[in-house]
Amino acid sequence: MKTITTIHDMQSTVRMEKQTGKSIGFVPTMGYLHEGHMSLLQKAREMNDIVVLSIFVNPLQFGPGEDLETYPRDLIHDEQAAENSGADYLFYPTIHEMYGDEPSVTAVVKKRVNCLCGRNRIGHFDGVATVLTKLFNIIQPDRAYFGLKDAQQVAVVDGLIHDFNFPIELVPVSTVREEDGLAKSSRNVYLLQDERVRARELYQALLKAEEAIDSGERDPEIILRTVSNHIISETGADIDYVEVLAYPELKPVKKLEGKIIIALAVKFQKARLIDNMIVTIKDREHQSAFEQTGKEA
Ligand code: PAF
Repeated sequence: MKTITTIHDMQSTVRMEKQTGKSIGFVPTMGYLHEGHMSLLQKAREMNDIVVLSIFVNPLQFGPGEDLETYPRDLIHDEQAAENSGADYLFYPTIHEMYGDEPSVTAVVKKRVNCLCGRNRIGHFDGVATVLTKLFNIIQPDRAYFGLKDAQQVAVVDGLIHDFNFPIELVPVSTVREEDGLAKSSRNVYLLQDERVRARELYQALLKAEEAIDSGERDPEIILRTVSNHIISETGADIDYVEVLAYPELKPVKKLEGKIIIALAVKFQKARLIDNMIVTIKDREHQSAFEQTGKEA
């Protein structure tokens, strides 16, 4: 694997690879790679001739008081992990390389942001859209890979690719889970011992919702209450939100039909965790939103 730090070198490498007709799979990250990232890289490896990983802690997507300065970084570990997962190139630019002194043009995301995590992270998805617009232009991938754990980001990227006409296939990849169902996250290490045991119930809450839908429940309020009650009685965590929305539009629904997301965010003492389930409802049957999730019912 080759590490590239300048836009110029990345662009000439992409040009060279494209000249020989190679397809490019792109996995954008902020580094500190974990198993979730590995599954994106593996998927990209399976589907493309060339795999490019970027590591860039993007200041534009951090709000005041968020953890930009303390965001975990470990380049040596990341280079090894990326190489082991079959990446061909690591794009690792500095902030100055990406934005110069200050960007003169930035993106504004108008839809799919005033809900879920976006409600309290004003400007976050504008920063994500801005950096991805740059990265997509520099790397010109055929496919880009994003984890469904952050399903709102996937929905925003879907809008970005569509509205800005990027000739890129968005590949959402299903959430990687611990054996007991807890979604893998670098934040899980902040859970106290007893919290870690109870955190498994977050996925159980989503499974209960799925079970209710399987049994014919179509009232979003009842699904919302099912999930919230389970979280309250079984985890002791504070609920930040539980929402049931159309997916990927992220609009409220009066009745469950089509593709929907059941999403939750909770706060334990030191860890804030998110999880979700995407369900496509066809009469009384349902299946996962994206084939890539590999989960059907
Ligand atoms: O999901 C992330 O790590 C970031 O939001 C992304 C997509 C790399 C953009 O900075």
